[in-house]
Amino acid sequence: MGLGIVSQLILFAVIQLHSYVIGSAPQEVLQDHALLTNGCIEFTGSWSVLGPFRIGTREAIWGADPVEQYGGVRQLDDNDATSYHSPLARNATVQWDSRSFSPAASETATSVELVVEFLDIDWVFAQKIYGWSAFQYQAWLRGGIWNHDNIHRRVALYPAGILELWIGDIHVFGGDFYTFGNAPLVVDLHPGLNMLNVRLVRDVRSMGGSFPPKCHAILRAEVAAEPIEVVHDSILLPDVVRDQFVTRYASVVVRSQANSWINISGIFVNFSGKQLAVMDRWVLLAPGQSRPLKMEFDFPRVLTKTITFTLNYALAGQRLHSIAFEAQLSHTDPSSLQKMTFLHTSGAVSYATLRPPPMGLSIERNMPVLLNLHGAGVDADGDLARHMFDDTPELPAWILTPTGMTPWSGDDWHTWGFADAQAAVSAIPNWINSTGWEGPGLYSDKTLVVGHSNGGQGTWYFASHQPDRVLGAAAASGYSSIENYVPYLYWNEADPLQSAVLNIARSNYRHELLAKNFVGLPIFQQHGSADDNVPTYHSRLMNTLLAEAGNAAEYAEMLDRGHWTDGTMTTPSMIDFYSSHLEVSDDKLSVPDEFVFIVPNSDDVGSRYSIVVDQLLSPDRLGHIKVCVMRNGSATRWHLRTHNIRRLRFDPTIQIRHRPEEVLLDDVPHVFDVRHPTNLRSLVLMDSDTWTWDVSLDWRNLNQRYGRQRGALDSILRSVAAFEIVYCSNESLPLAVQASRNLLQYFGADSNIGSRDAYKDALSRDGNIITISLSKSLPSAQFPLFPIQVEEDRLLLMTKRSQSISIPLKPGMGGVWLRPLPDERLELVVWGCDNIGLQQAARLIPTLTGAGQPDFVILDNEARWKGHGGAIAMGFFDFNWRISSASYLP
Ligand SMILES: *[C@@H]1O[C@H](CO)[C@@H](O)[C@H](O)[C@H]1NC(C)=O
Ligand SMILES: *[C@@H]1O[C@H](CO)[C@@H](O)[C@H](O)[C@H]1NC(C)=O
Ligand SMILES: *[C@@H]1O[C@H](CO)[C@@H](O)[C@H](O)[C@H]1NC(C)=O
Ligand SMILES: *[C@@H]1O[C@H](CO)[C@@H](O)[C@H](O)[C@H]1NC(C)=O
Ligand SMILES: *[C@@H]1O[C@H](CO)[C@@H](O)[C@H](O)[C@H]1NC(C)=O
Ligand SMILES: *[C@@H]1O[C@H](CO)[C@@H](O)[C@H](O)[C@H]1NC(C)=O
Repeated sequence: MGLGIVSQLILFAVIQLHSYVIGSAPQEVLQDHALLTNGCIEFTGSWSVLGPFRIGTREAIWGADPVEQYGGVRQLDDNDATSYHSPLARNATVQWDSRSFSPAASETATSVELVVEFLDIDWVFAQKIYGWSAFQYQAWLRGGIWNHDNIHRRVALYPAGILELWIGDIHVFGGDFYTFGNAPLVVDLHPGLNMLNVRLVRDVRSMGGSFPPKCHAILRAEVAAEPIEVVHDSILLPDVVRDQFVTRYASVVVRSQANSWINISGIFVNFSGKQLAVMDRWVLLAPGQSRPLKMEFDFPRVLTKTITFTLNYALAGQRLHSIAFEAQLSHTDPSSLQKMTFLHTSGAVSYATLRPPPMGLSIERNMPVLLNLHGAGVDADGDLARHMFDDTPELPAWILTPTGMTPWSGDDWHTWGFADAQAAVSAIPNWINSTGWEGPGLYSDKTLVVGHSNGGQGTWYFASHQPDRVLGAAAASGYSSIENYVPYLYWNEADPLQSAVLNIARSNYRHELLAKNFVGLPIFQQHGSADDNVPTYHSRLMNTLLAEAGNAAEYAEMLDRGHWTDGTMTTPSMIDFYSSHLEVSDDKLSVPDEFVFIVPNSDDVGSRYSIVVDQLLSPDRLGHIKVCVMRNGSATRWHLRTHNIRRLRFDPTIQIRHRPEEVLLDDVPHVFDVRHPTNLRSLVLMDSDTWTWDVSLDWRNLNQRYGRQRGALDSILRSVAAFEIVYCSNESLPLAVQASRNLLQYFGADSNIGSRDAYKDALSRDGNIITISLSKSLPSAQFPLFPIQVEEDRLLLMTKRSQSISIPLKPGMGGVWLRPLPDERLELVVWGCDNIGLQQAARLIPTLTGAGQPDFVILDNEARWKGHGGAIAMGFFDFNWRISSASYLP
């Protein structure tokens, strides 16, 4: 799902927090919760609004705030009658206006619901021309929050539906755009009125395409009474079968509300009087940081209805405290749909729901997974997802519904969510093992991928990127790509090359361009003809492109049906499709006489008919291989014609008929014998345009970009452990906490925060590093020839032809760039000439999808209002970590 339905589903959800706290907390912060919120903290009811201004789909990531040209929202006086230019409004100008809202208060929280619309804009006409883009806009809202007490009060502030705001002089980017409510801000309110400036960014995908285009946000504050808060809603436990957990992992989010660092030294559960450790390592929380804690139950115990945890922690320099919390257990039986937990590739605990195959079926046969990718805003453990397959109790498959780590599947089932789906499949054997399952086994070489809406789009992603791992793909009401969904009009003007760089960064997600990879795969599409959420055009378009490419995909358009109805995933034609492609046979895959492999720049791309591409020549365009299968005497010979391919090999584990024995590459007059492929030996295109076997097996060095490093800036998400966020000067600690909060909010990710002194420790661990650095404090690159260097008074960029470009440092300048670390790891440098530049740069750390961050970006001060048009330089690094030819350079 997406659009209107989502906002209904989540914006009005009541988030309940009943932290059940015993144990003692330090005296100076121990306060009476209810008494304090009651009347002490209060939002104002009168607000001022300035807008609407234009904004493009997901453009806010790039700044693009028109009032920055006037010095930023805090510099503006909402009492004066100054006009500000806006292309959306009459006379091309807007002025401050007033709005009233009704603040609400409960025992423990105070809130205000901000619903804004602009009645005198002719939205209807604009929509006729610009479509849904015309229903997207931005505006600033100014109001406040009272602290009626005479001392500072710390609050947890939940900015639902908000991407950016100022609380007094504190700038917050990230907020909680999709209203997840996982990681609130922890802020101090001084006595009296604290000014709030809230940037409203209207997004059709999350707020709907209905008329009139209203902005909807909720601010909610709770007094932060304890130094540490266990977020009760966040407790993630596997289901219980026969009084045992079905899988071993569990997690809980804790939030620091203290001024000092907190050391959590363990979590224990009390089993029949014995304290058993479920987390026995220590974890640090920076002031205001939230972290998901991984717990492990590696001992069998008989479980009852509830379980009580004790968490031990100490504030810096203080004695140990403990806090207890309780969770309800969910008992079920082995063959029902149940919740299993596992580790996401990043090490954070994730879950999926699993419905094992029917017990009655032959246990001789291993059954494949039906991987069900949910839509946006859908909770995998909620009623809607849990009952999607109720009508097919006999389906011979493991029905697995992963989360992607959030209801928005992290990043729309791309790099992060895709990793979650794959980790879920890999975790089924653990479930089988720990439950002692005696039904049919698992066939896991290939998967039947299905999905609805955003999950339909994820289905396209899975099948186009891993064609050899797919039994079939069924996309219901799926959209073809984010750019095609809510068009990218209304973005700021920029040099065409700057816009092209963003397009290149998104090209991995343009399924329209990957249609040829689907040829040979069973594809089924379904879409309601009256879908007002994902237009039917998306499925018709994909069906047309597939036909052009040579795949006659089955397509059922359902007359007058909307986006979703009960049973969408189990219509008779869907069930037919599942049934005919869940058959696992030992027949090897037969290879057509001719096929094409389109290779986007991404580590998510697997093999096609066993061909694996390890490197592209240039990240600026897609790779392309056309294969003709021939027979020469008794040998099977494949002729590969390549464009933009630098390194390839053949995966020996893919079972295909007519495996190549000999290979011809382009016009090289040499026949390569590939009878004994290994995963180490690769064919590489040398500078002289000749293909050869790479003689060295250890080409995977720091000077080669490979494996998980491949992709645009979002490759940083391919971390194999918690992120390491390093702040290089004390004043950047709040920005590090913000980055950590955003990674948790948008991806469910965990991160360690450490200072510059701990950079070496961060390097010695396994996670990808995000280094936040002001001016010259940046640690030097591990790769000495890295083409971007920060010097005393300038940045130096080394081009491909070894020319150096010098960019003098200027106030407001900032940038982000990836750097290589050993073992496929990456570092994301977030750098600013000053704090303004650093804040600009930090916006580009991945949060929302579709923003199109390339591998490196250097922003000028003007990017604050010009967005990507204010970039001084941006582009990509090639397989050698050199700046690519299509990059935009000064
Ligand atoms: C537009 O400008 C005209 C002339 O200056 C003025 O009379 C009118 O009120 C303005 N309209 C708006 C909506 O500001
Ligand atoms: C955190 O606490 C543990 C156990 O009390 C201790 O071993 C560890 O050194 C502490 N870590 C820090 C950084 O203080
Ligand atoms: C553990 O549980 C027993 C009862 O089963 C209780 O007597 C004891 O106080 C509990 N211990 C702690 C530390 O909670
Ligand atoms: C199954 O569980 C046993 C006992 O815990 C363990 O030794 C074994 O390695 C597990 N096997 C798999 C495939 O996880
Ligand atoms: C078979 O391979 C040999 C040696 O590469 C070549 O000379 C011959 O033309 C090939 N025959 C066909 C039918 O392709
Ligand atoms: C940074 O903060 C730490 C701990 O608060 C302090 O020990 C250190 O002196 C500070 N460094 C600078 C350069 O201010």
